[in-house]
Amino acid sequence: MSLPHRIMVAGRATTIREAAREDVPLLVEHYRSLPGEDLRRRFLSTFRPDERFVSAWIDRSEQGGAVLVAVEQTDDGERIVADAGYVPSGKDTAELAMTVAADRRGWLGPFLLDVLVEHARDAGIADLTAEILPNNAGMLALLRSRGCAQRPGEDPSVLEFLIGTSGTTPSWPADSPRPRVLVEGSAAAWPGSRMAARTGLSVLACAGPGHGRSHPCPMLTGRSCPLVEEADVVVLTMPAGSPCAEQLLAAHTERDGDQPLLVSSNGGRGPDPDRYVRWTPLDPLASVSESLRQLRAAIDEIAPPASDAGRRDHAGVSGGPSAVPARAAR
Ligand SMILES: CC(C)(COP(=O)(O)OP(=O)(O)OC[C@H]1O[C@@H](n2cnc3c(N)ncnc32)[C@H](O)[C@@H]1OP(=O)(O)O)[C@@H](O)C(=O)NCCC(=O)NCCS
Repeated sequence: MSLPHRIMVAGRATTIREAAREDVPLLVEHYRSLPGEDLRRRFLSTFRPDERFVSAWIDRSEQGGAVLVAVEQTDDGERIVADAGYVPSGKDTAELAMTVAADRRGWLGPFLLDVLVEHARDAGIADLTAEILPNNAGMLALLRSRGCAQRPGEDPSVLEFLIGTSGTTPSWPADSPRPRVLVEGSAAAWPGSRMAARTGLSVLACAGPGHGRSHPCPMLTGRSCPLVEEADVVVLTMPAGSPCAEQLLAAHTERDGDQPLLVSSNGGRGPDPDRYVRWTPLDPLASVSESLRQLRAAIDEIAPPASDAGRRDHAGVSGGPSAVPARAAR
């Protein structure tokens, strides 16, 4: 979509365009109009941005990022009713943040996010990340509807999500070290997620089909999923026997990949070994260290230990970020 783009919001002519230095006072005014809880969700603190902060945000966006504003024509001038921006945070990723005025919510948020995603894609960014408070149901719904993955972080009070700028699924950021562990199911459902990330493995969790996504899961529609394709190990944590788990297991079995698949039976029965191949049962009641031991064994399958003569070094669960990428070294 080319900018500026004109739309009608609540019966008023509104223009979506890139923010300029002259917009600083209007943007400060917009932030001032937001309830305290919205500011907390946007800035993850009770911080109230002033002109200096907003100028710096626009300046930073000029270094490989962007700030878009939705500017409404009012009877006596202009009013910013929404903003959305991103700043580069990695080789091919950028962090996004956005707000919509309380009296203009409903569809403007999803629309502005679409425009931002397209802008980022055109700028060569593959994934946008967002740091979200767990109680931010509106933003969580927005990200889930696009198909998002969660990166387990150190701080459980802030959730980090990724959305892709092309297609309906994010991809692994180019600078995610290997081995890469894809958790299918909630990151919170598998206690090993955070620990695995802490030990230097790259971990992403995808909630899979459902969970409010408006586009079908690629795995279930015969297409390839970039998260699965570029993972080294897949851990399926959905309840065994649930339609989701069964469909995903079948899709994994049919696809032509070689990742070890670890399946948590979640206290119920495990999958039928005659129907599904290449999986290892993962006891959901096992201690975190036992889960990690099993994960390590699966990683060894793709990246045998250095002590094994003639073979390459590997990260292992405690290998740290400097570890040799498993597949690249093959
Ligand atoms: C997040 C935000 C930008 C979304 O804007 P919006 O889409 O115009 O606003 P809404 O909150 O009305 O709706 C977003 C979606 O969440 C859903 N939603 C809203 N509140 C919800 C709730 N309490 N529970 C579940 N879903 C909810 C809406 O139904 C909508 O989904 P739909 O498109 O499928 O109908 C806006 O709420 C906002 O500015 N929040 C404060 C700042 C913030 O949180 N920014 C994000 C962090 S950077």
